Formats: sequence, structure tokens, C-alpha cells
Amino acid sequence: MDLLLVEKTLLGLFFAIIIATIFSKLRGKKFKLPPGPIPVPIFGNWLQVGDDLNHRNLTDYAKKFGEIFLLRMGQRNLVVVSSPDHAKDVLHTQGVEFGSRTRNVVFDIFTGKGQDMVFTIYGEHWRKMRRIMTVPFFTNKVVQRNRSGWEAEAEAVVEDVKKNPEASRNGIVLRRRLQLMMYNNMYRMMFDRRFESEEDALYLKLRALNAERSRLSQSFEYNYGDFIPILRPFLKGYLKVCKEVKEKRLQLFKEYFVDERKKLASTKGGENDGLKCAIDHVLEAQEKGEINEDNVLYIVENINVAAIETTLWSIEWGIAELINHPEIQQKLRTEMDTILGPGVQITEPDTTKLPYLQAVIKETLRLRMAIPLLVPHMNLHDAKLHGYDIPAESKILVNAWWLANNPAHWKKPEEFRPERFLEEEANVETSGNDFRYLPFGAGRRSCPGIILAMPIIGITLGRLVQNFEMLPPPGQDKIDTTEKAGQFSLQILKHSTVVLKPPRSF
Ligand code: HEM
Repeated sequence: MDLLLVEKTLLGLFFAIIIATIFSKLRGKKFKLPPGPIPVPIFGNWLQVGDDLNHRNLTDYAKKFGEIFLLRMGQRNLVVVSSPDHAKDVLHTQGVEFGSRTRNVVFDIFTGKGQDMVFTIYGEHWRKMRRIMTVPFFTNKVVQRNRSGWEAEAEAVVEDVKKNPEASRNGIVLRRRLQLMMYNNMYRMMFDRRFESEEDALYLKLRALNAERSRLSQSFEYNYGDFIPILRPFLKGYLKVCKEVKEKRLQLFKEYFVDERKKLASTKGGENDGLKCAIDHVLEAQEKGEINEDNVLYIVENINVAAIETTLWSIEWGIAELINHPEIQQKLRTEMDTILGPGVQITEPDTTKLPYLQAVIKETLRLRMAIPLLVPHMNLHDAKLHGYDIPAESKILVNAWWLANNPAHWKKPEEFRPERFLEEEANVETSGNDFRYLPFGAGRRSCPGIILAMPIIGITLGRLVQNFEMLPPPGQDKIDTTEKAGQFSLQILKHSTVVLKPPRSF
């Protein structure tokens, strides 16, 4: 470290102490801040609460400090809300005020300072991006255009499993094949492209870059530079790696997918309107001058981040719960046999005609919520929430997992019991009609991908249950469902081996 840097650091620390002192004075006087642990200068509550602010730890704090509390993470304010009423206020009643997203140095790199849609602040740019993305991605017409592709991909999984003798003996890590399926579902939709196998070189490259992007953006490693801005110079090396990954990734999207599609469109001359894939619509918006080339690439980036793994985790959790509850697996199989007829393979329109399948999916998304704290929200300006002052640019987390797992609101929430959604919770939908249950959020920033995710999960779980008896691996009576909880996700820790018994003969 050179001398200048030390000097700057000390100077910065000095100012940080002054700011922290002013802040703590303000806390006592002007602002009525939400309750929370007493912060210390510079670090705030960071040293007390640590980095791992997952949904379970935040639930423990909610029990201590209440349904709304404030943590000072260095110079950043983190407000956590943990009741349906507060969630309604943040997502719906004050949806505009709290409709922005927090950014930090790392997200700024991966999103080109908010040139995307998922991580941009609430305003003109977000509205434009959401409008442009709706027609290619988020309508029922898109579902109808893509459903045969999703059905074909699920069928390909079933066929591959049937061909693999290991599947019925010692079992296989089914997740790997399902991951390829999810990439194919999304790449068919975006670019009319698919990857032949798990060994496809382009697929491997793409998957590795996506994984690296997730790791870098979700890591705790850069928190110190984010929470204490004056320490940012020490993040130089980390940010350099982020920039490299971001550039490689956008270049790959451009070279192998977007440019390829442009070439194809120019040779075909724009006929075949009905066969357009999502990127064609996005490129049209670019041609009209509504967005630039970077925006196009960030749309591709957002779909890679938001659509593939979230849906995959949910399918993986669903499989684990069905294996650990064989009676539920059998009940689902019987429902499909009865309503569709034995051997009639489930298709997209069937998914909504099977109440027990819907209940199994809802229960999976409740107990094993893929994005348990939603994507962090932010208020651009000073705001009020249930009588408390929320300083501008606070990060707002809605603990959606706790809302859906709080015994004060749910009967035995720790039990995996799909029947609850046919009995006492029959009116609760995934779309956010009840603020106790928000697997896709609610309001302006809620997940537009719900329209795709629900049928994809339904087709995939449905086909697996129709064609196989899914069991834990030999010597185990259950699948290990230990959670890997991060800042943004709730995944299964171990990608378990699953036994898939020979296809039932019809
Ligand atoms: C089971 C699968 C999925 C789950 C559980 C899920 C969940 C969520 C959640 C919780 C949010 C944030 C809501 C908020 O902050 O209030 C979100 C945002 C988003 N999701 Fe999903 N999602 C899934 C699948 C998808 C798919 C398949 C797509 C696209 C094809 C998608 C696209 C998006 C986008 C673009 C946003 C950002 C919306 C905005 O900021 O305005 N998601 N999702």
C-alpha cells in the first residue's frame, strides 16, 4: 500500500467518524428511525450482525426488534420488513416510493450502472425496458408459442433418464440434466437455439460465466468496500475480475447469439412473423432507436440471471420434497392418471387443470422460496413507513420467506403439506393476492416471469412423476434438504443423487 493511500484512508476514516457521529445525533433527534441494535461509529451494526444476513437470521432479528427494524451496515441503511402489512406498504401502497433497486459497485459493473431492467431504479428507463420486454417474454402468447418447446425438453429429459441404466440402480444427479433443460427452455425462447448435450462447449462456457457472475455479485467478499466507501480502493482487484467476467459474458451473448440471429434475420428478410423469437422483438426496438445495443445485451443478461436458476432451484426443491414424501408423490401421480388418463403425457394447458399439482408447486414455493428476501428494494428519497423515517437510499428487504412460514399466520408452516392450498389456504395464489405469500413478489417490481415459470415447473415435475418413481439413493431413506441460504437465494445445499425407477409401463 503506498503512502498516499494510507493518508487517504486515514482521512477518510476521520470523516467517516464525523459522519457517523452526526448520524447518531440525528438518530436521537430529527429522524424517528426503526428500532434495531445500537450502531457503533464507522461499522454500524456490521460487526455485531456479520455478513450472513439470510432469511433465517433476519427472522431471528425480527423476533427481537419487531416487524420493521434497521441495521446499519457501515454507511448503508438496511431496513427489514417482516409482516404482511409492512410488505403491502412497501410493495403496493408505496410501491413507487420503494420501487427502486439498490446498487453497489459490483452491480454497477454487471448492469452497466442500471442499463438493464431487473436492477435499475424505478423510473422512465425501467418503464421502457419493462414495456419492451413484455411482448417477447411475458404474455400468454409467448407461453403458447413456446409450450411445445418446453414439453419437448421435458420429454428429452425423460428419454435420457430412461436410457441411462444407472438412473434406476444407484441413481443420478438429475439436476445436471435439468439445468441443461432450463438453458434450452430459455435459449429456445430467446434465440431459437438449443444445446445438444451437457458437454456442448458453448453451453459449458456460458454456464461457467453465468456461475461466475452469480458468485461475484453474491459474495460477501466485497461488503467492506460497499459498506465503508473509503475502503473502496482496496476492492480494485476484485472489481477488475468483475469487469473481465462482465465483458467476456456480454461478448459471448453478442458474438454467439445476438449477432447470429441478426444475420439470420437479414438473410430471411423479416418474413415469418409468427416464428419470431424474443430477441427479434428486442432488436426491433433497437432499430426503432428506443434502446441501444448495450440495453439489448443487458436484457439477455437479465434473463440469464433471473429465469434459469430460480426455476431450476424450485424444480429441484419440488423433486426433493416429493421424494421425501412418497405419499404425496403417489397422490400426484394418481391425480394425473385420473384426470389426464394413464400414459397421457402432461402438456401446458393441463397444468392448470390439476389442482393437486398446483398445490404441490405452491407448497414448494412457500417452504422453499427461491428468492426468500425478494430482490432488494430501495427508496430514492426520504420516506415514511408505519410511522418511522426511512432515510433516502435505504436498502429494503421484505422477508417473504418468514411471511410464508410464520406460525402466527400459517398452520404448522414447517410441514410440507400441499393440501393446505386446497383447504384452509384455497384462495391464496402465487400472483401476490395475499401478502403472506409472495414467492414472486407483488406490485410494480414483482416477477413478470411467473407466467413462464409456473407452466415450466408444472410440465417438468408432472412428466417426472408420470414416468418415474423418484426415490432417495440406495442406503438413504431421505434426501438431504439442508439449505444453502445466501443473500439472494435459497437453494438446496447438496445436489442429491436421485433414483428414478424404470418407466412405468402403460
Ligand atoms: C420459480 C421461478 C422464479 C421465481 C421464484 C422468481 C422470483 C422473483 C422475485 C421474488 C422477484 C423480485 C420481486 C420483487 O423484488 O418485488 C423477481 C423479479 C424478476 N423476475 Fe423472477 N422469478 C422466477 C422466474 C423468472 C423467470 C422465468 C423470468 C423471466 C423469463 C423472471 C424474470 C424476472 C424479472 C425480469 C424480474 C425483475 C422485475 C423488476 O425488477 O421489475 N423470473 N423474480
